[in-house]
Parts: sequence; C-alpha cells; structure tokens
Amino acid sequence: MTTFKAYRTFEENGAVSSRFVTLSLDELDHGEVIVRTKYSTINYKDALSHNGTGKIMRKFPCVAGIDMAGTVEASSDARWKKGDKVIVHGYDLGVAHDGGYAEYVRVPAAWVVRRPESMTAFDAMTMGTAGYTAALAIELMQHNGLVPASGPVAVTGATGGVGSVAVEILAKLGYHVVAITGKAEESDYLKGIGASEVLRRQSLDLTKIRPLDKATYAGAIDNLGGDILAWLLSVQKVGGVVGSVGLAAGYKLNTTVMPFILRGVHLLGVDSSGTPMALRQKIWNKLAVEWRPDRVHDQVRTIDFDELPTHFDAYLKGLVRGRTVVRVGADTHGG
Ligand SMILES: NC(=O)c1ccc[n+]([C@@H]2O[C@H](COP(=O)([O-])OP(=O)(O)OC[C@H]3O[C@@H](n4cnc5c(N)ncnc54)[C@H](OP(=O)(O)O)[C@@H]3O)[C@@H](O)[C@H]2O)c1
Repeated sequence: MTTFKAYRTFEENGAVSSRFVTLSLDELDHGEVIVRTKYSTINYKDALSHNGTGKIMRKFPCVAGIDMAGTVEASSDARWKKGDKVIVHGYDLGVAHDGGYAEYVRVPAAWVVRRPESMTAFDAMTMGTAGYTAALAIELMQHNGLVPASGPVAVTGATGGVGSVAVEILAKLGYHVVAITGKAEESDYLKGIGASEVLRRQSLDLTKIRPLDKATYAGAIDNLGGDILAWLLSVQKVGGVVGSVGLAAGYKLNTTVMPFILRGVHLLGVDSSGTPMALRQKIWNKLAVEWRPDRVHDQVRTIDFDELPTHFDAYLKGLVRGRTVVRVGADTHGG
C-alpha cells in the first residue's frame, strides 16, 4: 500500500497543533480524484490555522494546506485522467477536507482546476491562493467599472502575497499603484514590482477618520480590514471601487454610509474559496499569460517540505515579503 508524508493538524486536549505524519490513501478524505502534489505554498490562512491562532480548521484531524498543484494520479470521474495537470485550492481544502500539505490529495472532481498549458506546478504555486485572490479582486473591480484612467489604486499589506501580486498585475495593466506598507525598508522592492508610489502605513493617522476625506483614489485592494479599510472608503473618488480581501489588522469595520451614498463607492467582497468554477478557470488562464506576475515569480523563496513548520511565525508577525513555495513532491520546477 502507498504511504506518504503529510502535515496534519490535530485538536488534542483543547489545543490545536500540527505535525508530520505518514498516511495511506485510504486515510484521506473522500473524492473522485487523487492528485499527486508537486508544490504547495504558505498563505496567511495556513499560518493562522496550523496552531489554532485563527479558528480556521473545521474538522480534526485534517491535513493542512489550502492549495496545491500537481498531476492527476487516478480519477473515477470522466472529466479527469491520469497525468492531467491541475491546481486545487479553496472550497474546504485544508480547512474541512484533507489539504495540500501532503504528497497526495483526494478531492471532489468539481474542485479541480485545469492548469493552463504553459503553467508549471511551480509557477502555479508562486501565485497560489494569494495570487489568485489578487487577480480575482482586480477582475471584480474592473467588472465594476475600474479602468486605469479612473485614477490611482491603493494596495494595503503591499509586501504580502496578495499585495505583491496585486501591485504587479495592476501595474502591468497600466494603473498608477500606491503601495501601502508597514515596511519602510521594502520601498525598492515595491517599486521594482511596479508601484508608482509607496506610502508608509505609519504615516496615516487612523485615529481621526472622517466620514468623507479628500477624494484621492479610484480604487483599493485591502488586505488588512479594520481602521485602514474605513479610511480607504473615506478617500475614494466618486465611483471608487474597493475590494475587501483580508483581515491581517482586524475583522471589524467601523464606517459610515457617506462614501456609499455621496460618492457611489462600491465595496466588493472578495472570496477566493467559493468562486464558481467558470470564473476560477478564467482567472487562472489570465494568470498564465497576460496577467502573469513575472517579477513576484522571480523573487519567491522555495522551501523543502521539512522546513514548513519554521516559516509560519513570520507570517503571523507580518514580516514576510512576497511568496513562499513549498516543495512537497518531486524536486523539479517543471511539470
Ligand atoms: N478573501 C479571500 O479569499 C482571501 C484569500 C487570500 C488571503 N486573504 C487574506 O488576505 C490577507 C493577506 O493574505 P496574504 O496571504 O497576502 O498574507 P501575507 O503574505 O502574510 O501578507 C500580509 C501583509 O499584511 C501586512 N500585515 C500583516 N500583519 C499586519 C498587521 N497586524 N497590521 C497591519 N498590517 C499587517 C504586511 O504587509 P506590509 O508590511 O507590506 O503592510 C504583511 O506582509 C490575510 O488577511 C488573508 O487571510 C483572503
């Protein structure tokens, strides 16, 4: 019987913790498709979940890892066959269904995304859920009227995974990107991936947010939540489009109706886990070609599976720049 390595999360005596274990295929959650993992990644959500910092896991024990890329090993669903190149992310993966931190995953056929021809498993995980979510936010914002001529677009948590990919894609599309970061030392990095301006988060006075302030931005991608999202809403121009992606600074939002009723601001919810498959596939196809974030890709750090547990803490402390790819399966950048 095939056995393999997995990083599994347990709840024992009321405490959540994770460790490497050896599993067999029959021990994985059910699904029609078995995929052999080449690469996974680290997302903020993985860091929140591995030790219970955030109440992310909904079943125990559960293999962690909210995304993976690899090839189909076997399928009882006619849509997939051995050797197909795929990505799996979102739905319940790594949250309530055994996830991507394992050499094999077994998932429902409806969760599987066909990896675009030119995108290797490594390429896919240089973007991962974070990059996908940045692209989804931009797709939704443009669908709601945002165009480069509308004016500057702000990105918060700009050095993070979602932030970095958002900065690069927006710049590629011709937007004037204002990267907002807590890391003064990363200004050159942010300009290097396409930011036109870099604003230090510490320079903003979030203690006095007015219902409406100077109309400055045509849009924003917010990874932080809390006061900074309230501030972003107050400084939107007429018709501004704000994508709410994350909660790295907090999940509460204390605002007024003024930006909505006096400036027609759109506040868009961005949920990567439940995106319908047609849109999900469309976004991945864009990420493979015209939206491909080459600069972020070239600066990812790749770690071995064994090293995974030592990397979560930096995510929880907001210290990470760009993306981390986890080499789970065969050691190759191909396939
Ligand atoms: N809605 C969805 O479907 C979806 C999908 C993916 C991610 N997310 C969420 O989006 C957020 C970003 O995810 P990610 O994977 O990009 O995370 P990440 O790589 O860890 O980046 C987060 C960035 O936010 C900033 N930050 C972190 N902690 C902070 C704090 N306490 N206060 C203020 N800023 C802080 C830092 O950037 P700077 O130092 O540059 O400011 C950090 O690099 C997370 O909240 C995540 O849960 C949501």
